[in-house]
Amino acid sequence: MNQELWKELEQFALNCKACELCKTRRNVVFGSGDPNSRLWLVGEAPGSNEDEQGLPFVGQAGAILDTFLEKNGFKRHSLFITNVIKCRPPNNADPTEDQKSNCFPILAAQLAIGKPKYILALGRHAAEAFVPKPFRSIKEIRGQVVLSGETKVVVTYHPAAVLRNPRLGEIVEHDIQMMSRLIAGE
Ligand code: URA
Repeated sequence: MNQELWKELEQFALNCKACELCKTRRNVVFGSGDPNSRLWLVGEAPGSNEDEQGLPFVGQAGAILDTFLEKNGFKRHSLFITNVIKCRPPNNADPTEDQKSNCFPILAAQLAIGKPKYILALGRHAAEAFVPKPFRSIKEIRGQVVLSGETKVVVTYHPAAVLRNPRLGEIVEHDIQMMSRLIAGE
């Protein structure tokens, strides 16, 4: 991976004023972990804790995610974790189409530099960034391997959905296990 380009992109993102979210954010959440990792996790957008710390998935949803990752032998610091949107939408509102299209070039550039082989897409907004065909629900597309260019993408429920409906936990765990087997069987 070109470290210099990556650093340049990070600086660009940290100063980004492409949309109104720059007025309310406390921090830009560029991502955390190792961008050289074969596996990247992509979520939706920073929440309050993430906005405060400038790091992805450090709140309640992150704690659930960590449990699933650890159970399946993944270490958070050895993966790269980011979001479709790099700045917190106020009140944790769903990101708008405009916010997503303004922010997407940063994720696209991250992907072009880091070239992950695998992506676990967490929730609808991340899935929409990678699944080419239209879909009505996560149920319809989760737990399958979808190709996005040369990257193998598995979609699963967002960990925040598991907080609301703990029964989804089993499914997320299954999908993470599937990702782990996919990588092991390379
Ligand atoms: N939810 C997300 O989608 N991303 C985070 O970083 C935190 C919560």
